[in-house]
Amino acid sequence: MPRAIQITAFGGPEQLHLVDLLVGEPGPGEIRIRHHASGLNFIDVYQRTGLYQNPLPLTLGMEGAGIVEAVGAGVTHLAPGDRAAYASGPPGSYSEVRVMPAKNVVKLPAGIAFDTGAAMMLKGLTAQYLLKRTRPVEGLVPGDFVLFHAAAGGVGLIACQWAKALGLQLIGTAGSAAKCQLALELGAAHAIDYTKEDFVARVKDITGGKGVKVVYDSVGKDTWEGSLDCLRPFGLMASFGNASGPVPPFAPGILGAKGSLYVTRQTLFTHIATREATQEMADDLFDVVLKGAVKIRIDQRYPLAEVAQAHRDLEARKTTGCTVLTI
Ligand SMILES: NC(=O)c1ccc[n+]([C@@H]2O[C@H](COP(=O)([O-])OP(=O)(O)OC[C@H]3O[C@@H](n4cnc5c(N)ncnc54)[C@H](OP(=O)(O)O)[C@@H]3O)[C@@H](O)[C@H]2O)c1
Repeated sequence: MPRAIQITAFGGPEQLHLVDLLVGEPGPGEIRIRHHASGLNFIDVYQRTGLYQNPLPLTLGMEGAGIVEAVGAGVTHLAPGDRAAYASGPPGSYSEVRVMPAKNVVKLPAGIAFDTGAAMMLKGLTAQYLLKRTRPVEGLVPGDFVLFHAAAGGVGLIACQWAKALGLQLIGTAGSAAKCQLALELGAAHAIDYTKEDFVARVKDITGGKGVKVVYDSVGKDTWEGSLDCLRPFGLMASFGNASGPVPPFAPGILGAKGSLYVTRQTLFTHIATREATQEMADDLFDVVLKGAVKIRIDQRYPLAEVAQAHRDLEARKTTGCTVLTI
């Protein structure tokens, strides 16, 4: 029987168990895919702990790549034998084989390896919608500064490269000197070690006191206040994650006092709500990857059975770039 990683209770990495699961035939609108690799994402931690709730028992994993084995009624964009990759709910990519909705699954171009496909879909599509579709009211033009937290992480290193390709000056924050160096090597214009330096003061310094038009903030609780202080008037606070914990409730009046700021909380799953939107965004991502403008760094690999260690390392801020589970 195919193997998968399941949780039966929310909690720490010790809840991740290797199990045998029966996998059936795809129903209407579904496919069955045999994975070659699964991507590790911080959302997997939120789902494991129960910060984001799903019914139990739960096979985790929102990103994968492999070969389509069978398609259900009504699926016309994929066929058995296709190389494919996805970022998609419901969770289930920590598995050898799964049945899943076909809507968010796209063909993987021949020039992109399975492990790269598994590493880049969720993180790359996120960088895509942030930099291209989550923009301040005043727009972004080449030369503009943007602030991107956790710039040496999975989403972060893709964003460093893509921002540079768009002509933006990305100011990245990261949790060590080595991570800052990595962000700079991959295209950040400036890097700030926010565990040692006052990132608000540094951003003011770099921007000549003006601040940035947009902050992309996936750290959440620890950076929220400071991020607002890095924005120039009418700037956009684009919150998209909670690596340090969820942002606490706040009074909207603070946005007026700090310069008529805008706040949004984005999620990839709104952007990839349709098959057409998913394909359009994936084509944009494949284009920058195939051109070499964005290189997908897989800095960590773990066998599927060792996923608990992968979670521990991700939560302990020990990883950089992308992480894949090999299957
Ligand atoms: N809303 C969406 O659509 C969406 C989609 C994808 C990802 N995300 C979010 O984007 C973020 C990045 O995702 P990822 O999978 O690429 O992860 P990642 O960036 O590779 O890992 C998270 C990073 O956050 C930083 N961090 C800061 N404070 C932390 C803390 N207290 N505990 C743990 N990490 C902390 C760490 O980098 P430093 O050591 O450099 O600080 C860590 O490496 C996550 O918050 C994720 O939830 C959101």
